[in-house]
Amino acid sequence: MILINNLSTKMANYRHDVNEAIARVLDSSEFILGSETKNFESQFARYIQVNHCCCVANGTDAIELALRAIGLQSGDKIATVANASMYSCTGIIAIGGIPIFMDVDLKSNLVTLNEVVTAISRGVKAVIVTHLYGQAIPEIKEIAEICRTAGVFLIEDCAQAHGAIVQNRKVGSFGDVGCFSFYPTKNLGGLGDGGAIVTNSSKIGKTLTQLRQYGWSEKYKVELAGGRNSRIDEIQASLLSTFLPYLNGWNDRRREIASQYTCNITNHHVILPPVRGSDYVAHLYVLRSKERNSLREFLKSVGIMSDIHYPIPDYCQPIFENRFSHLYLPNTEQLAKEVLTLPCYPEMTQTDVDKVISAVNNWPNP
Ligand SMILES: Cc1ncc(COP(=O)(O)O)c(C=O)c1O
Repeated sequence: MILINNLSTKMANYRHDVNEAIARVLDSSEFILGSETKNFESQFARYIQVNHCCCVANGTDAIELALRAIGLQSGDKIATVANASMYSCTGIIAIGGIPIFMDVDLKSNLVTLNEVVTAISRGVKAVIVTHLYGQAIPEIKEIAEICRTAGVFLIEDCAQAHGAIVQNRKVGSFGDVGCFSFYPTKNLGGLGDGGAIVTNSSKIGKTLTQLRQYGWSEKYKVELAGGRNSRIDEIQASLLSTFLPYLNGWNDRRREIASQYTCNITNHHVILPPVRGSDYVAHLYVLRSKERNSLREFLKSVGIMSDIHYPIPDYCQPIFENRFSHLYLPNTEQLAKEVLTLPCYPEMTQTDVDKVISAVNNWPNP
């Protein structure tokens, strides 16, 4: 069976490193926001090449706290895409913001400069862009410039794109803030929940360190409204420091698997993403097919798991009831019906990769 992710193989491969990191924390007996957190924050800021990193409890909190830290308030309009499974919307809703949905490009699955310009003309105070599936948004530099000129905040959701590079810069360094998740299956993942916000602004950085801990300016003194308890634990931070040096190599292996898929899958009933360079860290390898459910069933019958990222556009989610019933984003809706994710992670063997390729090629399309 080829799973969509395989953390037991990862654990077997890195057991020694993991044991050492956890032992270090047990020896220190410091469990929340201690020296491991500080170390990882400075290592990750250096990796992304920004001035500050503030770790929080998970990637969704990273988005919510980023919105609070830049000063957004209830009733503010915030632009986001609708093809990334409600993560950014969850943050927007948490602060009482109003989501303004942007469509994505059919080929890249990503937001475009044009869509951002339209959202800005609709009066948004902030734009959240998602580097989806590990692909850096090609126009991110131009998007950052247009937002700056318009006085609109830019938040990059980098939860699927740790280490992706565009125009010689890592994603997360273009916007006012970059948000990351360290969920175990991410390109850089811990063994539990974790998240981070990176920024070049010392003001935003300081505000974030207060917001993640009740709004404290010092112990037990709550000076900042909107505070939360959203701290990372020392075990996760120690594991993230342990895994960070492996990240570039893991990304290379993911990209290598993705290019093998694109070069060797020849079935004409699927549309494949192009072979890409360091702007893609292959968090997910996502193809398209009008018959994706049949392909999914076929793959399952030969022991290959796949997934759908994501089946429901945000504005069609049941929690919104009829609120967005007037809205139709053609590309987002088409993608929700056609996308299918193949297994693509560093622990896959060459035999696994070959099996996936032959299975897709052997799929007898109806
Ligand atoms: C694009 C994106 N944004 C945000 C998140 C939220 O991260 P977390 O699950 O750590 O809250 C995820 C997690 O899957 C994600 O893929």
